[in-house]
Amino acid sequence: MKEFMDTNLNKNNMSETNLSAAKVRFDNFSVSFLPDKPGGAIVEALSGINLSVGDKKILSVIGPSRSGKTSLLRSVNRLNDLHPNFVPGGDILIDGAPVYASSNIDITALRRKAGMVFARPVILPLSIYENIAYGPRLAGNNSKPSLDELVESALKDAYVWEEVKDRLQSPAASLSGGQRQRLCIARVLSMRPDIIMLDEPTSALDPVSTAKIEETLIALKSKYCIILVTNNVKQAARVGDKTAFFLMGRLIEHDDTSKIFTTPRDERTENYITGRFG
Ligand SMILES: Nc1ncnc2c1ncn2[C@@H]1O[C@H](COP(=O)(O)OP(=O)(O)O)[C@@H](O)[C@H]1O
Ligand SMILES: [Mg+2]
Repeated sequence: MKEFMDTNLNKNNMSETNLSAAKVRFDNFSVSFLPDKPGGAIVEALSGINLSVGDKKILSVIGPSRSGKTSLLRSVNRLNDLHPNFVPGGDILIDGAPVYASSNIDITALRRKAGMVFARPVILPLSIYENIAYGPRLAGNNSKPSLDELVESALKDAYVWEEVKDRLQSPAASLSGGQRQRLCIARVLSMRPDIIMLDEPTSALDPVSTAKIEETLIALKSKYCIILVTNNVKQAARVGDKTAFFLMGRLIEHDDTSKIFTTPRDERTENYITGRFG
């Protein structure tokens, strides 16, 4: 009997830690920013992060400002490389392939595969249609029927099609804040990503637009791996399958969202989610 239980336990542990099942895996990952002037201090934005994100799941990332949440997202698709003082440590694996250790990684393909939505929707001074078609066209798609289809499906999947289908040629600048943010999600989708990362995507939106974005994310998770950084703990609880709590560059706790919000293991997690600091 004991032997049976041991084997079963082992099996369970194996599946819990089945590393190949992770879409994104942070492996002892750290981020430092070197001082930009002599004598300045090194900023350790992230230290020794071990974290797996499953496919077709939403990971909510919470924590007070400067805890490293943005650095975490920007490291996945190597947007941090744009900072000359950025120094990564450890690695991030996407589908088991290292993002930093690979010498011949195609960064453009990586950024398509892991798309990013920012807090403030970035709108190109073009029509609604062109805001979506721009990326695929740059990537070499010049077929109008194919672009039409791509634009329509991206706008549908981002839950904004019904609101814009009769005015695709109008300037995107005519859209509301919430519609612009869903347009940005559509733009990421048009590049056929696997991973969608969002950095506080509703921090500038009203509650109704926020609810639409949350609805959109919950629908999208059937197809994508989603990492949602949010300054809104209630939002993390509403949409995340898992939640990770960061503090001063460290991952304090990561678990099923229901567990984090009912019986967190760490007192600091509890203090944060109950609003005692933030
Ligand atoms: N390019 C940079 N150069 C120097 N320090 C940076 C840079 N980007 C971020 N940091 C620092 O890294 C830490 C984590 O920042 P960030 O990842 O933006 O946290 P969060 O998104 O949780 O607010 C902060 O102390 C911030 O000042
Ligand atoms: Mg941030």
